[in-house]
Amino acid sequence: MPLQWTRVDDYEAMSAAGAARIAAALEPRLRQGRPVLLGLATGNTMLVLYQRLAELLNRCAASLAQLHTFNLDEYVGADGRPVPADHPLSYRAYMEQNFFSRLDPQLGLQPDHVHFPDPACPAETDDLIERLGGLDVQLLGIGFNGHIAFNEPMPETKIAADAFAALPTRVIDLTELTIDTNARLTAGGDRSRVPRQAVTLGMKPILAAREILLLACFPEQEEPLRRMRHGRPTPELPASYLLDHPHSTILYTGDRISLEEQA
Ligand code: GLP
Repeated sequence: MPLQWTRVDDYEAMSAAGAARIAAALEPRLRQGRPVLLGLATGNTMLVLYQRLAELLNRCAASLAQLHTFNLDEYVGADGRPVPADHPLSYRAYMEQNFFSRLDPQLGLQPDHVHFPDPACPAETDDLIERLGGLDVQLLGIGFNGHIAFNEPMPETKIAADAFAALPTRVIDLTELTIDTNARLTAGGDRSRVPRQAVTLGMKPILAAREILLLACFPEQEEPLRRMRHGRPTPELPASYLLDHPHSTILYTGDRISLEEQA
């Protein structure tokens, strides 16, 4: 199935549609009592989606005892460790606040089934995902430069398209553009609060997910999406690899992003 482009009216519609899609994919699997793997993203795009998803899962009331969540990424401090949960940019804290704390505790999500890549042993995340049967659904945002998770664009002169698609989970140096963008959007413009490194799920485990759902709702995301629409998979635009994925969807908001051809 080729990549599906789905336009929705606005942020609320995107959040509701994204949550409904994830819940629909998870529910039958949760009832089968085998491990269910959900890849999670952070960012402003996902804030309301997590509210809606928690509401849907609470209402459906299937046990979450077999659910494993894998977050895409986390900032890494100068000491080489994940930033602590009280760091203002901590993705773990974001997830706790926006999603995990909203789930009904009676549904039984296991704290040790909540996974973040570990900068000390990034390969272990890829091994664990494989051992548990692979990601069922991967939720993605898109950086203003087209990155997914913290897989930053690279020139094709530096890495072949296949090698880029095979990148494992690893520690990376953030690009100046991402530091600037994330300072502006999440750190009150203060660059010094944005760590210089992060640990990111690699392209390989992301692209191996059975279903991928990418959400976009900011005008700055129009440009990478347009390039993608008319392009081919290239390391210069990491999100473009969804073009070759057998089951992926882009949900974008028509009030902020226009992908229709100009007359
Ligand atoms: C960060 C994350 C990405 C995310 C991007 C967009 O850079 N590493 O995974 O897609 O932010 O976030 P937002 O939703 O705030 O635009």
